[in-house]
Amino acid sequence: MQFRILTLGDLIGRSGRSVVREKLSALIAEQSVDMVVANGENASGGFGLIEANAKAVLAAGVDVITSGNHIWNRPETAGFIGRYPNILRPANYPDTLPGSGRFLFRHSGKGVKVGVLNLLGRVFMPPMESPFFKAETEIAALREEGADLIVVDFHAEATAEKEALGIYLSDKVELVVGTHTHVQTSDEKIIACRMGYISDLGRCGSFVSVLGFDAQQSIHGFLTDTQQRCDPCKDGLVLEGLIADFDVETRRCISLKRIRI
Ligand SMILES: [Fe+2]
Ligand SMILES: [Fe+2]
Repeated sequence: MQFRILTLGDLIGRSGRSVVREKLSALIAEQSVDMVVANGENASGGFGLIEANAKAVLAAGVDVITSGNHIWNRPETAGFIGRYPNILRPANYPDTLPGSGRFLFRHSGKGVKVGVLNLLGRVFMPPMESPFFKAETEIAALREEGADLIVVDFHAEATAEKEALGIYLSDKVELVVGTHTHVQTSDEKIIACRMGYISDLGRCGSFVSVLGFDAQQSIHGFLTDTQQRCDPCKDGLVLEGLIADFDVETRRCISLKRIRI
């Protein structure tokens, strides 16, 4: 049996939410997508995720929301994230924080169980527990729970760290996608003839902007060496991500296609 997963890059504020609301349902239908994973760490005003926006993203057709270093920017997130098992925060944050870094999605029609794991990188990032070691225990837990396929969203800055984790996990999971840079890479590949990989999915937001944010604010910041506001840019919206096909019985990724709509 084949199974098709669409993963989407970071949603940037209202722009990201609106392009997902407008484009996702048709894409799911046209491409016969079985499951959608999207990174929501920037979905509210560009930084963090509030509950109302999380609900809207899920209602638009996203099955699992992953996140990253901005997930705690909104104080209310800690209060609701524990009530939504399909909204993840990176697993290598301290266990004392609410929420979980992994989720087992069950596709009712096909009877396929897909584990989703969210990890945060450590290069050019705050000090964290090792994503390499944390991945081992979380993957073991997902297999124990019955995962047929496992998808990892590795939210990291450095491509070296992303490629290293990708190859390290290539005999342990079926898909590793990078997020956080908001710039889609053209390096999608199937590693060891079984695991799909891309260094970064890109963004759902403005294409001609600075990482999805207002370019003039960013340029002013560079010209003056000062910290500036970052408001999501509203123009020229794109939805970027990756469609991955899997053979469930042999646990292999069999094809990858980058998306930019
Ligand atoms: Fe982001
Ligand atoms: Fe990030």
